Amino acid sequence: SESRPLTGRHVLITAGPTHEPIDPVRYIANRSSGKQGYAIAAAAARAGAKVTLVSGPVNLPTPAGVTRIDVETARQMAAAVDAALPADVAIMVAAVADWRSAGEAAQKIKKDGSGQVPPLQLVENPDILAAMCKSDRRPPLVVGFAAETNDVLDHARAKLARKGADWIVANDVATHQMGGEINALHIVSASGVESLPELPKDAAAALLIERIADALA
Ligand code: C5P
Repeated sequence: SESRPLTGRHVLITAGPTHEPIDPVRYIANRSSGKQGYAIAAAAARAGAKVTLVSGPVNLPTPAGVTRIDVETARQMAAAVDAALPADVAIMVAAVADWRSAGEAAQKIKKDGSGQVPPLQLVENPDILAAMCKSDRRPPLVVGFAAETNDVLDHARAKLARKGADWIVANDVATHQMGGEINALHIVSASGVESLPELPKDAAAALLIERIADALA
Protein backbone atom coordinates (compact mmCIF):
# COMPACT_ATOMS: atom_id res chain seq x y z
CA SER A 1 0.00 0.00 0.00
CA GLU A 2 1.18 3.52 -0.82
CA SER A 3 2.34 5.69 2.08
CA ARG A 4 0.93 9.21 2.18
CA PRO A 5 3.38 11.09 4.43
CA LEU A 6 2.12 14.56 3.42
CA THR A 7 -1.49 13.97 4.46
CA GLY A 8 -2.88 17.12 6.09
CA ARG A 9 -0.10 19.34 4.70
CA HIS A 10 -0.54 22.27 2.32
CA VAL A 11 2.21 22.40 -0.31
CA LEU A 12 2.50 25.55 -2.44
CA ILE A 13 4.42 25.16 -5.69
CA THR A 14 5.33 27.63 -8.45
CA ALA A 15 6.20 26.31 -11.90
CA GLY A 16 6.84 27.30 -15.48
CA PRO A 17 8.17 30.52 -16.97
CA THR A 18 6.61 33.95 -16.72
CA HIS A 19 5.72 36.07 -19.72
CA GLU A 20 6.46 39.77 -19.45
CA PRO A 21 4.60 41.84 -22.04
CA ILE A 22 6.36 44.36 -24.28
CA ASP A 23 3.24 45.28 -26.24
CA PRO A 24 -0.06 43.46 -26.95
CA VAL A 25 1.65 40.89 -29.22
CA ARG A 26 5.19 40.52 -27.82
CA TYR A 27 6.67 39.29 -24.56
CA ILE A 28 9.91 38.34 -22.77
CA ALA A 29 10.08 34.69 -21.68
CA ASN A 30 12.52 31.81 -21.10
CA ARG A 31 12.88 28.12 -21.98
CA SER A 32 11.19 26.69 -18.86
CA SER A 33 8.68 23.97 -19.79
CA GLY A 34 7.15 23.59 -16.33
CA LYS A 35 7.79 19.81 -16.41
CA GLN A 36 9.88 19.62 -13.22
CA GLY A 37 7.47 21.77 -11.19
CA TYR A 38 4.44 19.85 -12.45
CA ALA A 39 6.16 16.54 -11.61
CA ILE A 40 6.79 17.82 -8.07
CA ALA A 41 3.15 18.89 -7.74
CA ALA A 42 2.00 15.43 -8.89
CA ALA A 43 4.37 13.72 -6.43
CA ALA A 44 3.20 15.92 -3.55
CA ALA A 45 -0.45 15.12 -4.33
CA ARG A 46 0.37 11.38 -4.49
CA ALA A 47 1.99 11.77 -1.06
CA GLY A 48 -1.35 13.02 0.28
CA ALA A 49 -0.75 16.79 0.36
CA LYS A 50 -3.23 19.50 -0.50
CA VAL A 51 -1.35 21.08 -3.42
CA THR A 52 -1.67 24.60 -4.82
CA LEU A 53 0.22 24.99 -8.10
CA VAL A 54 0.75 28.58 -9.27
CA SER A 55 1.70 28.17 -12.89
CA GLY A 56 3.10 30.38 -15.61
CA PRO A 57 2.10 29.69 -19.23
CA VAL A 58 2.88 26.02 -20.07
CA ASN A 59 1.46 23.25 -22.23
CA LEU A 60 0.89 20.63 -19.57
CA PRO A 61 -2.18 18.94 -18.08
CA THR A 62 -3.02 19.67 -14.44
CA PRO A 63 -1.83 16.72 -12.30
CA ALA A 64 -4.51 14.72 -10.48
CA GLY A 65 -5.58 16.19 -7.16
CA VAL A 66 -3.81 19.53 -7.72
CA THR A 67 -5.42 23.00 -7.53
CA ARG A 68 -3.90 25.04 -10.34
CA ILE A 69 -3.86 28.84 -10.58
CA ASP A 70 -2.72 30.19 -13.95
CA VAL A 71 -0.78 33.43 -14.18
CA GLU A 72 1.25 35.15 -16.85
CA THR A 73 3.60 37.71 -15.29
CA ALA A 74 5.91 37.72 -12.28
CA ARG A 75 3.74 40.31 -10.57
CA GLN A 76 0.64 38.14 -11.04
CA MET A 77 2.60 35.14 -9.72
CA ALA A 78 3.62 37.14 -6.63
CA ALA A 79 -0.02 38.06 -5.93
CA ALA A 80 -1.26 34.47 -6.45
CA VAL A 81 1.45 33.08 -4.15
CA ASP A 82 0.54 35.60 -1.47
CA ALA A 83 -3.15 34.70 -1.77
CA ALA A 84 -2.36 30.96 -1.47
CA LEU A 85 -0.55 31.29 1.88
CA PRO A 86 -0.38 29.92 4.52
CA ALA A 87 1.40 26.70 3.55
CA ASP A 88 3.49 24.10 5.34
CA VAL A 89 5.98 23.96 2.49
CA ALA A 90 6.70 26.21 -0.47
CA ILE A 91 8.61 24.82 -3.44
CA MET A 92 9.48 27.64 -5.81
CA VAL A 93 10.33 25.95 -9.09
CA ALA A 94 9.19 28.68 -11.48
CA ALA A 95 11.72 30.32 -13.76
CA VAL A 96 10.48 33.81 -12.95
CA ALA A 97 11.68 36.49 -15.38
CA ASP A 98 14.22 38.62 -13.53
CA TRP A 99 13.28 41.68 -15.59
CA ARG A 100 10.22 43.05 -17.34
CA SER A 101 9.74 45.82 -19.85
CA ALA A 102 9.52 49.16 -18.06
CA GLY A 103 6.36 50.20 -19.85
CA GLU A 104 3.93 47.94 -21.70
CA ALA A 105 2.96 49.70 -24.93
CA ALA A 106 -0.81 49.93 -25.29
CA GLN A 107 -0.56 49.33 -29.04
CA LYS A 108 1.70 47.13 -31.17
CA ILE A 109 5.09 48.80 -31.64
CA LYS A 110 5.49 49.41 -35.37
CA LYS A 111 8.55 49.09 -37.58
CA ASP A 112 8.50 52.43 -39.39
CA GLY A 113 11.02 51.71 -42.15
CA SER A 114 13.58 54.22 -40.88
CA GLY A 115 15.89 51.49 -39.54
CA GLN A 116 15.51 52.88 -36.01
CA VAL A 117 15.08 50.23 -33.29
CA PRO A 118 12.74 50.85 -30.38
CA PRO A 119 14.43 51.23 -26.98
CA LEU A 120 13.63 48.34 -24.62
CA GLN A 121 14.00 49.56 -21.06
CA LEU A 122 14.02 46.79 -18.42
CA VAL A 123 13.09 46.99 -14.74
CA GLU A 124 13.60 44.35 -12.06
CA ASN A 125 10.70 42.08 -11.11
CA PRO A 126 9.79 41.38 -7.48
CA ASP A 127 11.65 38.38 -6.05
CA ILE A 128 8.77 36.17 -4.94
CA LEU A 129 10.94 33.69 -3.06
CA ALA A 130 12.95 36.32 -1.18
CA ALA A 131 9.80 38.26 -0.24
CA MET A 132 8.11 35.09 1.05
CA CYS A 133 11.15 34.24 3.18
CA LYS A 134 10.99 37.67 4.84
CA SER A 135 7.22 37.69 5.36
CA ASP A 136 5.47 36.92 8.63
CA ARG A 137 3.66 34.09 6.84
CA ARG A 138 6.86 32.34 5.80
CA PRO A 139 6.17 28.60 5.50
CA PRO A 140 8.21 26.45 7.92
CA LEU A 141 10.05 24.87 4.97
CA VAL A 142 10.92 26.99 1.93
CA VAL A 143 12.65 25.35 -1.02
CA GLY A 144 14.00 27.43 -3.90
CA PHE A 145 15.42 26.26 -7.20
CA ALA A 146 18.47 27.46 -9.08
CA ALA A 147 19.01 26.82 -12.77
CA GLU A 148 22.64 27.58 -13.52
CA THR A 149 25.03 27.07 -16.42
CA ASN A 150 28.27 27.31 -14.40
CA ASP A 151 29.59 27.11 -10.81
CA VAL A 152 26.27 25.48 -9.93
CA LEU A 153 26.89 24.67 -6.25
CA ASP A 154 28.62 27.99 -5.49
CA HIS A 155 25.69 29.93 -6.95
CA ALA A 156 23.24 27.74 -5.03
CA ARG A 157 25.02 28.35 -1.69
CA ALA A 158 25.06 32.09 -2.35
CA LYS A 159 21.35 32.01 -3.25
CA LEU A 160 20.50 30.10 -0.06
CA ALA A 161 21.96 32.92 2.02
CA ARG A 162 20.74 35.81 -0.15
CA LYS A 163 17.12 34.67 -0.41
CA GLY A 164 16.71 33.15 3.03
CA ALA A 165 15.42 29.76 1.81
CA ASP A 166 15.96 26.55 3.78
CA TRP A 167 17.05 24.59 0.73
CA ILE A 168 18.09 25.49 -2.77
CA VAL A 169 17.69 22.73 -5.32
CA ALA A 170 20.28 23.37 -8.00
CA ASN A 171 20.29 21.99 -11.49
CA ASP A 172 22.83 22.45 -14.25
CA VAL A 173 21.03 23.70 -17.34
CA ALA A 174 24.21 23.48 -19.40
CA THR A 175 24.32 19.65 -19.10
CA HIS A 176 20.53 19.16 -18.73
CA GLN A 177 18.84 21.74 -20.90
CA MET A 178 15.65 23.47 -19.79
CA GLY A 179 12.66 21.75 -21.33
CA GLY A 180 14.32 18.30 -21.33
CA GLU A 181 13.07 15.06 -19.79
CA ILE A 182 15.84 14.34 -17.26
CA ASN A 183 17.44 16.26 -14.41
CA ALA A 184 20.26 15.88 -11.92
CA LEU A 185 19.24 17.76 -8.77
CA HIS A 186 21.55 18.92 -5.98
CA ILE A 187 19.80 19.66 -2.68
CA VAL A 188 21.83 22.42 -1.00
CA SER A 189 21.11 23.32 2.62
CA ALA A 190 22.98 24.63 5.67
CA SER A 191 23.95 21.04 6.44
CA GLY A 192 25.58 20.36 3.07
CA VAL A 193 24.78 19.03 -0.39
CA GLU A 194 22.94 15.90 -1.43
CA SER A 195 23.39 15.19 -5.13
CA LEU A 196 20.63 13.02 -6.59
CA PRO A 197 21.46 10.85 -9.59
CA GLU A 198 20.45 11.78 -13.12
CA LEU A 199 16.77 10.81 -13.31
CA PRO A 200 13.60 11.37 -15.32
CA LYS A 201 11.86 14.45 -13.91
CA ASP A 202 9.05 12.44 -12.26
CA ALA A 203 11.54 10.20 -10.41
CA ALA A 204 13.58 13.23 -9.32
CA ALA A 205 10.34 14.80 -8.07
CA ALA A 206 9.41 11.69 -6.07
CA LEU A 207 12.81 11.68 -4.35
CA LEU A 208 12.60 15.39 -3.53
CA ILE A 209 9.12 14.91 -2.04
CA GLU A 210 10.49 12.01 0.07
CA ARG A 211 13.19 14.34 1.43
CA ILE A 212 10.60 17.02 2.17
CA ALA A 213 8.32 14.56 3.96
CA ASP A 214 11.31 13.38 6.05
CA ALA A 215 12.20 16.98 6.93
CA LEU A 216 8.65 17.72 8.12
CA ALA A 217 8.30 14.49 10.09
O1 C5P B 1 17.67 34.53 -8.60
P1 C5P B 1 17.19 33.33 -9.33
O2 C5P B 1 16.16 33.65 -10.38
O3 C5P B 1 18.26 32.47 -9.89
O4 C5P B 1 16.49 32.47 -8.20
C1 C5P B 1 15.82 31.29 -8.48
C2 C5P B 1 14.85 30.98 -7.38
O5 C5P B 1 14.15 32.15 -6.98
C3 C5P B 1 13.76 30.03 -7.84
O6 C5P B 1 13.28 29.32 -6.73
C4 C5P B 1 12.72 30.99 -8.38
O7 C5P B 1 11.43 30.40 -8.42
C5 C5P B 1 12.80 32.12 -7.38
N1 C5P B 1 12.48 33.45 -7.93
C6 C5P B 1 11.34 34.11 -7.52
N2 C5P B 1 11.06 35.37 -8.00
C7 C5P B 1 11.92 35.98 -8.85
C8 C5P B 1 13.10 35.33 -9.26
C9 C5P B 1 13.33 34.05 -8.78
O8 C5P B 1 10.55 33.55 -6.75
N3 C5P B 1 11.64 37.19 -9.32
